[in-house]
Amino acid sequence: MNTAAIPVIAIDGPSASGKGTVAARVAQALGFHYLDSGALYRALANAAGRAGIALDDEPGLVALAQRLDLRFEGGEIYLDGVPAGDAIRSEEAGRAASRIATLPAVRQALLERQRAFRRPPGLVTDGRDMGTVVFPDARLKVYLEASVEERAHRRYKQLIEKGIDANLQQILQDLRERDARDANRAAAPLQRAADARLLDTTCMSIEEAVQTVLQWFGEGLPQ
Ligand code: DC
Repeated sequence: MNTAAIPVIAIDGPSASGKGTVAARVAQALGFHYLDSGALYRALANAAGRAGIALDDEPGLVALAQRLDLRFEGGEIYLDGVPAGDAIRSEEAGRAASRIATLPAVRQALLERQRAFRRPPGLVTDGRDMGTVVFPDARLKVYLEASVEERAHRRYKQLIEKGIDANLQQILQDLRERDARDANRAAAPLQRAADARLLDTTCMSIEEAVQTVLQWFGEGLPQ
């Protein structure tokens, strides 16, 4: 299938910037498919842990990425038929994902899997390199950011609301480390694509961010 005509909205940005929530809501509003690319890295890191594959074993991780049965259904990700659940949502899972994401062959192994999500009527996707590497021809590219303090605060609130013990200073430190690793790696680092529109949500609600993205997408449509 020639997929070039299928519109993609690529939303990139640092950890805990709210891009996942915004992307999922934009997808819902437009009736588009949604790809949470970070969940692929999280799921792979989680599966590696269970298979006893070290997080720096590049060939082992590539082989695993090629054979792993990964499916999204109703907002849940299934790993070999089993819902991954909260196991891939923890801070530890995010750190492990960020580590394997530095390996170029691992990124390459996940590339086609990500592109396969581009199906009619359209795709909204979020990650670090959606607009720069995976979907460079995306119809709309958004670089969504918020100050690291605001992001740490949001993550802290989220964890407390879920009844999970959390330490704000620790979260702030973890986010700074993850930002540095994601932005400074050689392979597909987190960076704003030259043609991405900047959306700073530090002082913005999720709803305002969703409306802004929908408006930008609408502006780009043929009149
Ligand atoms: O978006 P997230 O926090 O779920 O992503 C977890 C990690 O996966 C992130 O720290 C870096 C990596 N990642 C990536 O390198 N490229 C992507 N497109 C998405 C995530």
